[in-house]
Amino acid sequence: MAQVIPSSEISKHVDEEVTLQGWLYNRRGSKKLHFLEVRDGFGIIQCVMSKNAVDEATFAAAGELAQETSLHITGTVTAHPKKEGVYELKATGLEVVGVPTDPYPITPKEHGVEFLMDHRHLWLRSKRQHAVLRVRHAVVRAVREYFDEHDFTLIDAPIFTPNAVEGTSTLFETEYHGQSAYLTQSGQLYMEAGAAAFGKVYCFGPTFRAEKSKTRRHLQEFWMVEPEVAFMDLDGVMDLAEDFVCYVVARVLETRRADLEILERDISALEAVQKPFPRIHYTDAVAQIQKARPEDSEAPPLEWGSDFGGEDETLLSQGYDRPVMVHRYPAAVKAFYMKRDPGDDRLALGVDMLAPEGYGEIIGGGQRESDLEVLDAAIAHHGLPPEAFGWYRDLRRFGTFPHGGFGMGIERMVAWLCKLPHVRETIPFPRMLNRLSP
Ligand code: 4AD
Ligand code: MG
Repeated sequence: MAQVIPSSEISKHVDEEVTLQGWLYNRRGSKKLHFLEVRDGFGIIQCVMSKNAVDEATFAAAGELAQETSLHITGTVTAHPKKEGVYELKATGLEVVGVPTDPYPITPKEHGVEFLMDHRHLWLRSKRQHAVLRVRHAVVRAVREYFDEHDFTLIDAPIFTPNAVEGTSTLFETEYHGQSAYLTQSGQLYMEAGAAAFGKVYCFGPTFRAEKSKTRRHLQEFWMVEPEVAFMDLDGVMDLAEDFVCYVVARVLETRRADLEILERDISALEAVQKPFPRIHYTDAVAQIQKARPEDSEAPPLEWGSDFGGEDETLLSQGYDRPVMVHRYPAAVKAFYMKRDPGDDRLALGVDMLAPEGYGEIIGGGQRESDLEVLDAAIAHHGLPPEAFGWYRDLRRFGTFPHGGFGMGIERMVAWLCKLPHVRETIPFPRMLNRLSP
């Protein structure tokens, strides 16, 4: 073996002899030449082994290598004669580490989604999945960078919770030492406590929704980042959400362009994501959707007062090249904690950000009800157990303050950035209505 390097550093070793540790991704060749594509976790490098560069046994062994054999391969780094930024290895040695016991189930031929999902633990090795999850990592990193650099304090929210935040229909119930508990749907209520203590806070962790539907936008378990800011009103929340999304998109373009190219993502569509984003009042949004609905639409007629379905969100965002923010939804279709619009009591000071290209809601948030009496009425109106909200009411009892924030689902964001047909590929091991494994 020569010096072991990750393939991500190969450009620094031109003309040197190095060793890569990895797995055989693909192989083709002739009597005199083998082309071995080796995957080492960082990338895929083509290793060219010519018959006269190695001994006979090594050349013969290379010609028999099965897909996903683990190996050490040694060779001299060369720059690709035509493709800039592409490097190859002229192989001089090969050491097999682990020979597969069976043929690898995922071959270059097409497989059905369920088959791939059953083999998710192996599917992660494929080029596209690798690219998607690297984009995901870049999103997660940009999210943390953004809030850390803007004076937010990270306040981790608990996962076991005594009560619902986002409606009682999507709760996962569990047993907590003889008491019933729920997996968190959102850390928001805890962030409101955090905002009173630290001014600007965020949490970032897994959240759970027992969604009974199978859509391309819903997971049972997803990751959400939730900032919350003291003395921030709805306009402030929209400013923050817009600035934040622009930052995340720009960072992904800066650091993960190569992965987006592997995914054949239209980069210019992402470059268009610049401030300001259109801000559309709910009432105007209803009118725009009604106008955009095709004559033969099978969806029930959209009336003022109803929430938007996925199809409506797509119709609304069609006319724009960047995300849009729809604000002031009817209070009746939103959560108990939303502040009423002082200008129109039927409306809530909430906002949804809808991604372009049919990706629908990526952010939900708004200004919170800070008046104790109004909040109590809302808790009662939603049929929520008041005793579970004792501590939450304290935030209004002791120095109540206007505040707001939002939640962004990481998987929705990644699905849009990568332009994937379904969120299931945006998380390493998705949890869906019919899937708890692998
Ligand atoms: O709109 P939601 O339900 O808002 C909240 O939970 C607020 N408490 C957040 C806050 O204000 N702090 O969810 C926020 C975002 C959605 O816009 C979407 O991106 C994502 O979380 N999301 C889901 N992602 C995947 N699968 C699901 N089942 C999701 N439900 C929500
Ligand atoms: Mg929402």
